[in-house]
Amino acid sequence: MTTLLPFPRLRSSASAHAESVKRNQLALADAYGRVATDLRVSLTDRCNLRCAYCMPPEGLDWLPGADVLTDEEMVRLITIGVKRLGITTVRLTGGEPLLRKNLELLVADIAALSPAPEIALTTNGIGLAARAEKLAVAGLKRINISLDTLDPETFVRLSRRRRLPDVLAGIAAARAAGLNPVKINTVLMRGINDHEAFDLLRWAMSEQVQLRFIEQMPLDPQHGWKRDEMITADEIRQRLSRHVELVEDPEDARTRGSAPAELFRVAGTGYSVGIIASVSKPFCGACDRVRLTADGQIRNCLFARTESDLRTPLRSGASEEEIADRWVAAVASKQPGHGINDPSFLQPDRPMSAIGG
Ligand code: 5AD
Ligand code: SF4
Repeated sequence: MTTLLPFPRLRSSASAHAESVKRNQLALADAYGRVATDLRVSLTDRCNLRCAYCMPPEGLDWLPGADVLTDEEMVRLITIGVKRLGITTVRLTGGEPLLRKNLELLVADIAALSPAPEIALTTNGIGLAARAEKLAVAGLKRINISLDTLDPETFVRLSRRRRLPDVLAGIAAARAAGLNPVKINTVLMRGINDHEAFDLLRWAMSEQVQLRFIEQMPLDPQHGWKRDEMITADEIRQRLSRHVELVEDPEDARTRGSAPAELFRVAGTGYSVGIIASVSKPFCGACDRVRLTADGQIRNCLFARTESDLRTPLRSGASEEEIADRWVAAVASKQPGHGINDPSFLQPDRPMSAIGG
C-alpha cells in the first residue's frame, strides 16, 4: 500500500521559487515539484524536560560537544540557505533551543542577513520569561510553545519535571514581548492528558494564543508509539465538539498554503483552533521544509532515513558553492511522503529531539 498524498498546495513555495529565480539563486526543489523555503535548525539535542512521547526519563546519549556546530558555523550555513538557496523562514528548534547560551546573539545575526528571513522559535518555554523581550529585540518574530496540560501533576507525569509555572510565565512573557503569533503546540496522550482538550481550548481562547493540537508521531526513541493508541485529529475534533460547535474556518482553505494545521472556528467567536493531522491526513504534498541538525546534517524530511553531511565540508574549508550544491542534492532526493501508513514504515534512527520539530 502506498500513502496517498494530498494534492500539492504550492502557492507560497512557487512564488518564493519565482523570487529566488529572479535573484539568480538556486532553489531547493525536489522531484515532486515542492520547493523548500522553510529551514528548521535544531540548535541542540538536549532538553530540560522528558516528555513521554519524546524522551526516556534518563535522557538520551547527547551529541558529543565537538560535533555540535558552533554559533559561527550555524550562521555560515544559515547564510548559505538564505542568500543562495531561497530560504525565507528560519525556525530555531531543539531539543530545547533556549539551552543554547547565546541564542539572542544568534537570532540577531540571522536577522541581519539580507534578504532578512522571518525568524521563529519552537520552545518548551522554560526560561523564556527572562528572555522573551531580549529575543524579540534581537529580531525574533514568531514563537511556538509546547504545552500539553494545565494541571501541575499531569505536567509532572508527562514531562517528569515540576515546571508548569515556568512554562506559563514564559507564555505570558512571549505575549508581553509582542511576539506574534504565539502558538501553543499540544500533543494529547490517551489516559494522560486527553481529557484536557477542552480545558486547553478555553484557556487558549482567554489568553489569546493560537492553540494547535498535533497528532502524536512515531518519533520516540523508546518506540512506544502505537497507531491504535494515537488520539486522531477526528477524535480531537469530536472531543472539542462536545463543548463547542466547530465550523470549518472559511479563511483556512484559501490561506493555508503549506501550513499543516487545519483550522476550525469556534462558532460564535472569532477564535480558530488548529488540528495537525500529521499521521491521519499527511500534508507531505505541500511540504516546504528542510532541516539542519545540531551536528550539521541536512534532513529533507522528519522521517528521512538518510542525511547529508554539511559539517565535514564546512570544517574542511569547502566553498559556499560546494556546500550549496550538496544542500541542493540533499533536497532533490526528498521522498514524496513520510510513509507512516505503509506497512513497511521504519522510524528514523534519530529521535525527534535530535531532529527538531
Ligand atoms: N509527535 C508529535 N509532536 C511531537 N513533538 C515532540 N515529539 C512529538 C511527537 N512524537 C512536539 C513537541 C513540540 C514540537 C517540537 O513537537 O510537543 O511542541
Ligand atoms: Fe524536550 Fe520538546 Fe522533547 Fe519535551 S518534546 S522532552 S520539551 S525536546
